[in-house]
Parts: sequence; structure tokens; C-alpha cells
Amino acid sequence: MKILVVGGGGREHAIIKALKKSPMCGEIFCAPGNGGIAADATCVNIGAKDIEAIRDFAVKESIDFCVVAPDDPLVMGAVDLLKEAGIKTFGPDKKAAIIEGSKAFSKDLMKKYGIPTAAYETFTDMEEALKYVETCDIPIVVKADGLALGKGVLICETREDALKAVRTMMEDKAFGASGDKIVIEEFLTGPEVSVLSFTDGKTVVPMVSSMDHKRAHDGDKGLNTGGMGTVAPNPYYTKEVAEECMKSIFLPTIDAMNKEGRTFTGCLYFGLMITPKGPKVIEYNCRFGDPETQVVLPLLESDLLDIMLKIYDGKLDEAEVKFADKHACCVVVASDGYPEKYEKGFEITMPADKNIYVAGAKLSEDGKLLTNGGRVLGVTETGDNLKEAIEKAYETVKTVNFANAYYRKDIGKRALEAVK
Ligand code: AMP
Ligand code: GLY
Repeated sequence: MKILVVGGGGREHAIIKALKKSPMCGEIFCAPGNGGIAADATCVNIGAKDIEAIRDFAVKESIDFCVVAPDDPLVMGAVDLLKEAGIKTFGPDKKAAIIEGSKAFSKDLMKKYGIPTAAYETFTDMEEALKYVETCDIPIVVKADGLALGKGVLICETREDALKAVRTMMEDKAFGASGDKIVIEEFLTGPEVSVLSFTDGKTVVPMVSSMDHKRAHDGDKGLNTGGMGTVAPNPYYTKEVAEECMKSIFLPTIDAMNKEGRTFTGCLYFGLMITPKGPKVIEYNCRFGDPETQVVLPLLESDLLDIMLKIYDGKLDEAEVKFADKHACCVVVASDGYPEKYEKGFEITMPADKNIYVAGAKLSEDGKLLTNGGRVLGVTETGDNLKEAIEKAYETVKTVNFANAYYRKDIGKRALEAVK
């Protein structure tokens, strides 16, 4: 089969490497891809948000199956366009992608269907939001309604910070139109767990759980990033927690989306917090996580393409979804200074025979791989236990090089402490 993957980061590289293991996978394209993905797929110079051009390319190339990975094209309706043009596609349609596209929608959905989440209020009027902040409990969390590259969430430790956060979003428009509506919600505590799941709108199959490390620096210090590393499985996601999540969160969410006439198919990502009062939803994403995918898919023993095709046919219940009884660790190697200012254009050297997922990189005219973004590489290793996976990942990190490389030294440390 001729495949097209939309997107151009480490997550897409991991998806491509997994798809290529399928005997059904033939030629594989990636739009736009990147300089590292080019080693595994034919990169096409079309931006992920240019959804009409993606549809036109898919039709022209007679693509048999398309996977739309990033949030933006999903929320914009890429899947609707592709399916209307007769292209079989993996991912939710626009009506279902709103579960990530609007925090107000997802919060209202959870309230209506009794799915556990932080208590909240929604505001479109700044004065009302400011008035609310004057009386609410502190700390409090202020969130922009729409997509904001993962930056639209401000945790406010003081009332002053909260008032400032409201003004930043609603007056200064720091996140553009995403801040026209805001959600102010209760601050929850507890370990965080990411659970990606496959669903065809009837069956939901959770993948192996994982733990992201969102802050830039060791000890969970510094700014929030897209994710600096991951481990899987997440030790806080015990069998009991998993059972509780299936009963009180996963199945009710699939059911709620069906009842709203917004059947979700594809990968639904549950961002959970295991609070003292049980697991609660922090956020939904309508897609695979990045860098969660870089630890989850290397543990998948079944055929990813077959699973995706079965989802398309509404027969996920017939698919084999099996994960290895092993552990994985991904260390993100970034450009020093990320997520703020950083230099790029440095030559990357790395071994060719390892699970290294390339994100921010491009090829020079003479074929050298150069850094071209904040998160540059995701280095994944697996092991029989968590400690082994972490040690192997850091060994492999030593074999990759570029001038201003920066990575956290403590990916998996908290998970290891939890195991003990
Ligand atoms: P999000 O972009 O929604 O994933 O939020 C980014 C991060 O902010 C999450 O991974 C959590 O660490 C934190 N966060 C979001 N909402 C809450 C909340 N209600 N209570 C505590 N932390 C939160
Ligand atoms: N790693 C978090 C996300 O993909 O949203």
C-alpha cells in the first residue's frame, strides 16, 4: 500500500518506522517530514496545515492510506477533506477533533457526562474572569480555550499571577484568538500519566502508559516545553488505576462523543492526573503524543498499519494490539536555549542503526543533517526493566553530536523512584 503521513516531527518519524514494519506497507511519503525522516520516507514539501494541498497530493499520487498526526490539521478538518476525496485516513474528523481544539468543549463534555476532571469556570468576558479570580482558591490554573502549541496553560501560585494570566490571554492576546475564551480551573495534585488509545468509536484499546517530562530542566524546573523525554510504562498507572480509568474515563468519553454526534476514531490521548481522589482528566488530545509515541510504538509488537486499517473499517475489536512486556525510555536532545531562543544550522552526527527519531533537522544542499529546531532528536532504547532502558538511552545519547546539544539528565528518575 502507498502511505502518506502528515506531520514532520519525532512523533511522525516513530509512526513511519512502525508502519514500515508492516508487510502491507509499500512506498511511504511524509508531508512535510524533515531531514531525518527523509532516510525513511519520501518527504513532500507541503506544510501540515496546508490541508487542501495535502488532499490534492494524496489524490494525485493515489495514496491508499493516510495518517494525519498533528493537532492543527486534524482540528482544521484534514480528515474530512481526505475522506471526501475518497482517501482512507486515520484520525478524527473535525467534529471529533474539537475534543482537543476547544478546552471549553472538553470541560463541558466531562461535566455533562460525569467524567472526573478539575472543577472549572469558562469566561469570554475579561472583567468577569478577573472578578472570579479575586475570590477563587489559589493556586489556580488559567487556560486558553484553543490550540496554543502547548503553551496556553498558566499555573498561578498567587492571585496576582492569576490576574496577570487572565490579562495576558484576554487583553494582550498572547495566544491570539485562542485566548478569546478562557477556562479557569482547580489546581490538582498527583503524578501525571499519558495514555494513548486506539479507538474506532465502539472499541477503545489503551496502549502502554507513559510519563512525559514537560519542563526544560532537571528536577522539573524551567519552562514548559513540548516534552523533554518519556518513559513507558508509567509505574503510577497500576492495574487498579487502569481498571478505574477504563470504567470512569475511557469508555464514558467514547460514549459521550457518540451521544454528541461526534464519534471519535483514531488515537485519543488521555492526559491524566492520579489525584488523591482518583484519576482525573487534565486534557484530551485528538492525536498521538510527542514524545510519548517515541516510547509507546517501539513497544508495540502488533502491526500498526493493520490496527489503523481495522479502525478505518470500524473493526478494531478484530485487531491484535499487543505490547512487549518491556520498558522504553526516550531522551530528547534539544538545541540549548529551547524553548526560548536557540541557534540552529549545526551539523548532526549520529549512529544509523539506533531508534533515533528526528524532529528539528533539515538536509543541507550537500546532504548533511543540520539542526533546524528546538527539539532535535528523540533517542529511544528499550530494556527488560526501567533502569536498563534509561541507562541504554543515555549511553546512546553519548553517541549523537551537534554543537549546542542540550538534554535533561534525569529522564525516568521519578519513575524509578516510584518503582522502588
Ligand atoms: P496541558 O497543556 O493542558 O497538558 O497542561 C500543561 C501542564 O499543566 C499539564 O501537563 C499539567 O502538568 C499542568 N496542569 C494543567 N492543568 C492542571 C490542573 N488543573 N492542575 C494542576 N496542573 C495542571
Ligand atoms: N507530550 C504532550 C503532548 O503531546 O501533548
